[in-house]
Amino acid sequence: MPLASSQSSTSVTQTASGVDWGSLRQDFPILSQLIHGQPLVYLDNAASSQKPNAVIEAIDHYYRQDNANVHRGVYTLSERATQAYEAARDKVQSFLNTPEREEIIFVRGTTEAINLVAQSFARPRLKPGDEILISAMEHHSNIVPWQMVCKQTGAQLKVVPINDNAEIVLHDYRKLLNENTRLVAITHISNALGSINPVQEMIALAHQQSIPVLLDGAQAAPHLTVDVQALDCDFYALSSHKIYGPTGIGVLYGKSSWLEAMEPYQGGGDMISSVTFEKTQYNVLPYKFEAGTPHIAGVVGFGTALDYVSEIGLGNIVEREQQLLNYATQTLLPLQGLRIIGTARHKAGIISFVLESAHPHDISTILDQQGVAIRAGHHCAMPVMERFKVPATARASLAFYNNEDDIDRLAEGIKEVNRIFGGV
Ligand SMILES: Cc1ncc(COP(=O)(O)O)c(C=O)c1O
Repeated sequence: MPLASSQSSTSVTQTASGVDWGSLRQDFPILSQLIHGQPLVYLDNAASSQKPNAVIEAIDHYYRQDNANVHRGVYTLSERATQAYEAARDKVQSFLNTPEREEIIFVRGTTEAINLVAQSFARPRLKPGDEILISAMEHHSNIVPWQMVCKQTGAQLKVVPINDNAEIVLHDYRKLLNENTRLVAITHISNALGSINPVQEMIALAHQQSIPVLLDGAQAAPHLTVDVQALDCDFYALSSHKIYGPTGIGVLYGKSSWLEAMEPYQGGGDMISSVTFEKTQYNVLPYKFEAGTPHIAGVVGFGTALDYVSEIGLGNIVEREQQLLNYATQTLLPLQGLRIIGTARHKAGIISFVLESAHPHDISTILDQQGVAIRAGHHCAMPVMERFKVPATARASLAFYNNEDDIDRLAEGIKEVNRIFGGV
């Protein structure tokens, strides 16, 4: 991997860490194309990140050389596929610092991980009068599964409010935790606002009352160092495609004491140790929760993505993205009629904004004409839009392969929007 090489073609590339960010950008082939005749600027990393050559090649290699079903064959290809699949589990273990590898369940993504906990953990434990506590800044994936399980059981959904800066109001959180609370489910970083939540403190407060906590780590896992033992969370959910890995694969981490006590989420092959028509004996962890042929190539690619990210170092990534966030905030704020939605003190590289002159969809369409890809809409967080009384926002979200030129191009594009719609 080209760390600290001097061959870079992009502008500002070197940080105190010594990582040559310009060279790393060259690892992502999709980024070196023209869109509408302009070099692509990709600023929708919160939705999905791009894939480095190493990941693309690992998937290619898997299908060309090792493809077979896992855990089944006693022939070389199946052994290789199993070895690659299980090696990725070890990589996730070290990425999240989980105590045991058996606590890593491969699922389709954050959404499936949360649904698994809702149905296998919460549903059998909930009764009318019980409460699930979420926050006002959740992604729909961390709202709807809880609404569904509340409907199934008669439990109630409670919502911790957020302040005008898009920070969780801890005073209200403390008040909402009570003897009826059965689970807290909170996002580690908000995809719509960028807020980094004080999850360590929130987990400690919940645990004082023996309330388990699930963290939605879809946005945090790519942009923070996550240590589930230090956090002491009970469940952690993440998606590979946001961490430079393939789509269709993700992870649920759960403390083994909980996972052991839970019923399987789905039935099928691989999740059993014996089956008769009278009785089925379930497999041990983690296989009890991995019914059917898994997304083997996805897991292999994800393992390579974790290697890639670990080699750069999450600490270096955090430092670079904070630098880019500061630059972007300073560059965008002076623009005519621009207002940033989400100004938490602790923020990741996500800038949601509105313009007086144009609707977010028009902003995004005009930027696309200039090769700049940002997201416009409610970002699967409609209650956030309601909270800030906006129909939608435009959102630029950063990754370590972005640079100051990308942000300048974004700013130029926004000025063009203002010229077209506002005459300024
Ligand atoms: C905070 C958050 N939670 C959950 C999800 C859902 O992730 P996935 O669609 O990969 O399951 C996302 C995706 O944008 C997200 O940003």
